Amino acid sequence: MSATTDVRRITAPELRARKGGEPTSPKGCEPIVCLTAYTAPMARLLDAHVDLLLVGDSLGMVVYGFDSTLPVTLDLMIAHGAAVVRGSRRACVVIDLPFGSYQESPQQAFRNAARVMAETGAQAVKLEGGLEMAETVAFLAARGIPVLGHVGLMPQSVNSLGGYRAVGRDDAVAERIRADAHAIADAGAFAVVIEGTVEPLARSISAELPIPTIGIGASPACDGQVLVSDDLLGLFAEFTPKFVKRYADLGTAVSHAAEQYAADVRARRFPGPEHCFSVKKG
Ligand code: KIV
Repeated sequence: MSATTDVRRITAPELRARKGGEPTSPKGCEPIVCLTAYTAPMARLLDAHVDLLLVGDSLGMVVYGFDSTLPVTLDLMIAHGAAVVRGSRRACVVIDLPFGSYQESPQQAFRNAARVMAETGAQAVKLEGGLEMAETVAFLAARGIPVLGHVGLMPQSVNSLGGYRAVGRDDAVAERIRADAHAIADAGAFAVVIEGTVEPLARSISAELPIPTIGIGASPACDGQVLVSDDLLGLFAEFTPKFVKRYADLGTAVSHAAEQYAADVRARRFPGPEHCFSVKKG
């Protein structure tokens, strides 16, 4: 047996178990490292370094150039999700259920989540929502579909929120977010993403919940962190949110490479003899 086949995927229950079951110490559990991936080559590059690869519906904005995640379809998520599963061997792959594919009823959510699981081979799905989605999370979890919750700033609700601003400054909203996180945990989610939420609130929710929290624009006290890969690589350069740390500037590198290629073609420096096929055999 080759070493390749020995690699085992991290499962949703393993990530859930990082937290134990009791409210954690201020240091929390072993942090869950998570990045988005939308394609097989990117999944291949990230797989060895992360615990969880999220096929986020952010692909609608990052890859397809929409100005929100709302136009993303289930078929699109399945195509990209299957590519990420093919490109990875170790990370737990979680696929976003897109807007309109789960909010109608637990039955609708199960039908679509079951398609995602069967047609991609992913380990779990993610859906946005709190109290109003608790019944759906319980319905899926009881039927063999691990669910990653998503509370705080929920991009699929951008039209109700009126924008992508951080949430939780107002006391009533903060208590609602806390109640949302507890409802999703009680319903059986294996972990919950907290997005765009004021730091002290994300910190206290993380200390209270029995399941891991995964922060994005939330708190270092979350039990894990997630970023959109294109943001940290400097590939999605139109706008860099405050919570993103840039680890590379690949956007500039791509532009520079294209500039050099164009100059070489225009000056007939490319292709060189080494890039051409000769008629000699061998
Ligand atoms: O769609 C996405 O990429 C996400 C993450 C930003 C959490 O939901």
